[in-house]
Amino acid sequence: MKLSIIGTGYVGLVTGTCFAEVGHHVICVDNDAAKVKMLQAGGIPIYEPGLEELVKKHVASGHLKFTNSTAEGVEKSDVIFIAVPTPPQPDGSVDLSYIERVARDIAAAMTSYKIVVDKSTVPVKTGEKVTETIKRYCPAKVEFDVVSNPEFLREGFAVGDLMKPDRVVIGVGSQRPVAAMKEIYTPFNAPIIVTDINSAELIKHAANSFLALKISYINAIANVCEAAGANVQEVAQGIGLDERIGRRFLNAGIGFGGSCFPKDLSAFIKIAEQIGYDFKLLKEVQHINADQMDRFVKKITDTLWVLRDKKIGVLGLAFKQNTDDVRSSPAIDLCQRLLKDGATLRVHDPKGMEKAKAILPNVTYVEDMNDVAEGCDALVVATEWDEFKQLDLARAKKGLTHPILFDGRNLFNPAEMEKLGWIYKSVGR
Ligand code: UGA
Repeated sequence: MKLSIIGTGYVGLVTGTCFAEVGHHVICVDNDAAKVKMLQAGGIPIYEPGLEELVKKHVASGHLKFTNSTAEGVEKSDVIFIAVPTPPQPDGSVDLSYIERVARDIAAAMTSYKIVVDKSTVPVKTGEKVTETIKRYCPAKVEFDVVSNPEFLREGFAVGDLMKPDRVVIGVGSQRPVAAMKEIYTPFNAPIIVTDINSAELIKHAANSFLALKISYINAIANVCEAAGANVQEVAQGIGLDERIGRRFLNAGIGFGGSCFPKDLSAFIKIAEQIGYDFKLLKEVQHINADQMDRFVKKITDTLWVLRDKKIGVLGLAFKQNTDDVRSSPAIDLCQRLLKDGATLRVHDPKGMEKAKAILPNVTYVEDMNDVAEGCDALVVATEWDEFKQLDLARAKKGLTHPILFDGRNLFNPAEMEKLGWIYKSVGR
């Protein structure tokens, strides 16, 4: 099918590329000229495993094109996906001005029936506004359908999540766009759920909030475990084997971050409030997440006492493993708190260092994780990168003034660490 994607951020770029991979003809539109140039040459602006190869492959095959012109995208495709940012505003609601702008641009360029699909994460009832906007700003007065088709990809696993989705959600206001939407997704062999537009929009917020709730739940359990002398990983295993609960997203730590969960929680709470429901449960999820970081910082200060002039090695800057994304990263938040208390930091992240430099200028960036501990008073694990499990512990111990490790992601085994002579503090164990 002929598709265009407006916005080549995380969602737009991965979606467009995977659509090309299953044989669709895709035009990706972005107003950033430098980015378009880079993509046309087969380069990509983000780190995402497997993506660069696919972009190169389909730029070469001709299935994937990049342009600055929304009009070109609209004219040459039957289905137009909106994948622009929906950033948070100070009151927790979402800034929908990019969506509105793109809806107007699409409307202005439409000269025949089009399906306009919203892929960006938006509050419920946005589809109604997009429909109204297109109607109002389309001089050709052609027919169109608006569809809500939320994305569920995780950064770091985005290509895999897109190629093998658990489900595809298609929210429609009429039956007319259903066949085309199904045709787009048939190659992905996933269950397709057709709903009304409001329900589709709600599914996205409800899914992310539930996952965030799961994390806050296990973090709360971790706190009880600490008080009771139990082990949260054993508890997670014990409850997670119940299929109704599931083990995934039950990893306790310093809390969730990233550009999705914190923003989507706030947005969901806000839209619920606007339509008359006080979502207290989700407010508590936010509180637990904030407390989790406070408790971890307290663990560090309880052990190291005064942080002023202490040197601390930090492993991890990205908001989670397999990504270079440091937006709303708990690891960065932690670094900023340690710096505020007067510590100096030596930091390492397998992929996130370049992007961290803009927000954390006054720290020492260390290329090799095994050099981070050198001359430090303690080591901290802040991101769950698998490779940190391969840290040369003997060498780190030699480099530190004292063998102290604060593990905010529970990567090491407490009994083994103790046996090796470490003062080892993790979460909920
Ligand atoms: C999340 C959802 O998982 C995706 O399904 C969704 O499509 C995406 O948001 C989105 O709305 O675009 P993402 O933000 O990429 O994906 O990352 P996650 O893998 O969900 O992790 C989010 C945060 O939770 C990270 O900071 C991670 O360290 C933390 N986390 C995750 C935990 O603390 N414990 C866990 O058990 C799992």
